[in-house]
Amino acid sequence: EKAGFDHFMLKEINEQPKAYRDTMRGRISEDGRSVALPELKITAEQLKGINRVHIVACGTALHAGLVGKNVIESLVRIPVETDVASEYRYRSPIITPDTLVIVVSQSGETADTLAALREAQRCGARVLAITNVVGSSVAREADDVIITLAGPEIAVASTKAYSSQLIAFFLFGLYWAQVVGKQDEAAVSHVLSAMQALPEQVEKILAQAEVLKEVAESISHHSSLFFIGRGVDYAVAMEGSLKLKEISYIHSEAYAAGELKHGTLALIEEGTPVIALLTQEELYEKMLSNIKETKARGADVLGIVNEGHESEIAKSVDRYFSIPRTLPLLTPALSVIPLQLISYYASLALGHDVDKPRNLAKSVTVE
Ligand code: F6R
Repeated sequence: EKAGFDHFMLKEINEQPKAYRDTMRGRISEDGRSVALPELKITAEQLKGINRVHIVACGTALHAGLVGKNVIESLVRIPVETDVASEYRYRSPIITPDTLVIVVSQSGETADTLAALREAQRCGARVLAITNVVGSSVAREADDVIITLAGPEIAVASTKAYSSQLIAFFLFGLYWAQVVGKQDEAAVSHVLSAMQALPEQVEKILAQAEVLKEVAESISHHSSLFFIGRGVDYAVAMEGSLKLKEISYIHSEAYAAGELKHGTLALIEEGTPVIALLTQEELYEKMLSNIKETKARGADVLGIVNEGHESEIAKSVDRYFSIPRTLPLLTPALSVIPLQLISYYASLALGHDVDKPRNLAKSVTVE
């Protein structure tokens, strides 16, 4: 049932091209110029009336939500707040009639997420759920549902569910922008064609998976490391860091690269591994200076860059891994793949139970 893979996690990492295709299938018009989400009950008129969004989830699903915030804010230009479900539900969130609450949950059964959904509805908000399980509690109780078609996820560490949630956010953001006229047809079809190239681009990354084994093995000798990035790269850094902690039990922290010098830089010493994401071209030079700050303290840096930057980045980092080019907003769907693989190989190198990490359950149905 692992289809020839050693672990469910590796199988699920490799299923991402299919998960992307399945999640997009039927939701992009034949001519590739518009998004169709007929499952949504919310009307164009109602979407026009939404002026703020709260994205609420736990763990990896929340990390997908952080990318979702960037997607909605840049495509629709509406302010989005993200919150941890266990905080949101108890902090009397400020919900107005023009607030849309989006809950994200692979299982659709996470207790805190479900409670946040109920609290939001109690306060009068309309709730849209992004979930992988049809008929789950979250899917049943939400006002609108977008199902990710990642297929069953068995490994405790979420991979294909997370990346399919990103696809769902891209689709929903485009759909919304399209129906309220925030993006014209040319802009929407430009993003859609880039999205349709993602599955093949993931395949290209997966074909280089072995390269990351060596990086993971060197990391596995360390007790702590950092993931740094800016913009959506910072959101992906958080997911990379959680994945590594979860299955390799190595401590790591994700940091907004520009924030390091405000204290945390003190923790970087000779040999400290740093994984730096540099997929946002506009922020590339800024990232290079942040990398320099860590190198000056002896950090051992892996740079994740877009194709074409190889020879240049080689001068600034100890190792690099390049990913195919896509639109800046879509890069998380590619850049997370090497991070998933690094965690997988690090856990393997340390001899841990990759699919069933200690102390964790697949579905957290208690508070
Ligand atoms: C990490 C992981 C967890 C879940 C979280 C929410 O790999 O899987 O952080 O993302 O427990 O679970 P769902 O998405 O089922 O609500």
